[in-house]
Amino acid sequence: MRALALETPTTFRDGFRHGLELSVPVRTAAPRVYAAGMGGSGIAADLVRALVVAETAAELTVVRGFALPRAVGPRDHVLLTSYSGNTWETLRAYDAAGRAGATRTALTSGGTLAERAEADGVPVLRVPPGLPPRAAIGHLLGGTLGLLDPLFPESNEGRVAAVSPRIDRRVRRFSAPDGAPAQLARSIGERLPFFYAESAFLPLARRWKHQVEENAKRLAAFDELPELLHNALVGWDATPKNVARRFAVVVLEWAEGDPSVRTSVRYLERLLRGRGVRTLKVDLAPEDRLEALLEGVVLGDLTSLHLARRRKVDPLPVDAITRLKAAVGHATGSGSFPATATGVAD
Ligand code: PA5
Repeated sequence: MRALALETPTTFRDGFRHGLELSVPVRTAAPRVYAAGMGGSGIAADLVRALVVAETAAELTVVRGFALPRAVGPRDHVLLTSYSGNTWETLRAYDAAGRAGATRTALTSGGTLAERAEADGVPVLRVPPGLPPRAAIGHLLGGTLGLLDPLFPESNEGRVAAVSPRIDRRVRRFSAPDGAPAQLARSIGERLPFFYAESAFLPLARRWKHQVEENAKRLAAFDELPELLHNALVGWDATPKNVARRFAVVVLEWAEGDPSVRTSVRYLERLLRGRGVRTLKVDLAPEDRLEALLEGVVLGDLTSLHLARRRKVDPLPVDAITRLKAAVGHATGSGSFPATATGVAD
């Protein structure tokens, strides 16, 4: 898992190159794209959305589930991402997109999604098989950005080339025995981590949560700035010191973010420290949003692997998800979740 995490910048570049070859058609000045996928597959479009929202006139709606919004129609494009190609929610979304008359692209390593897309003449961007879906993030993220490249006012090709050497350098530093990921994991320790980020980087906070849950097999949470200052703040304020020491708050901050949000975050940090909550700040690479996202993904992935090592757990298997999929597998296609599913371990 560690080797795969360290390869992310390379697999991102490969994925981007392949994605460009199958770029989605753009027919209007303000195109609407929907991206459906779950877990380690769904997060790729979510991360790319951070760029699309900030830098293009397009709308990219991320769908985590099986039902597409009723607004989807023949003028829209739907990207279906499932690493395994067998996730029932994504297969249902594939059918729904077809019924709505939308154009489709599938991003997968194979499975039923690839079979059905190929039979229907839907373009398939294949990523290498045999990986844990969440460890294929480089391929999926690069592939998604390549596919959606026409949405951007100018191609991301030059940008990917420009940020690559900087990311490679940083990732080399992360791999040092006492690099940033090791230090972060040590500071989080056994505390329940809350990952906070400004709206534009929220998908990154979500990715960190996913990775801690799946790799380190422990709970984590994420929330959005500045929104959480209008609710979670009250909860923190009322948290007694003896309880507060069980939590860690990790703020993922981008230097180019909004200065007003930064001022509020400093206030939050003072409050948290006053309550005895371990409070950590991660400064994301300032130069470019894409660079900050990629670096943030690798940093979070490696931190989650250090947390797994602390607990002496194998980060690779996700037995609980495998059992769930086995239990509901026969519902694939019909999409109904059987009431008798027995995938829950005692
Ligand atoms: O990381 C994982 O293994 C999961 O989060 C999967 O990505 C999720 O269950 C969906 O499966 P797939 O990515 O194969 O569609």
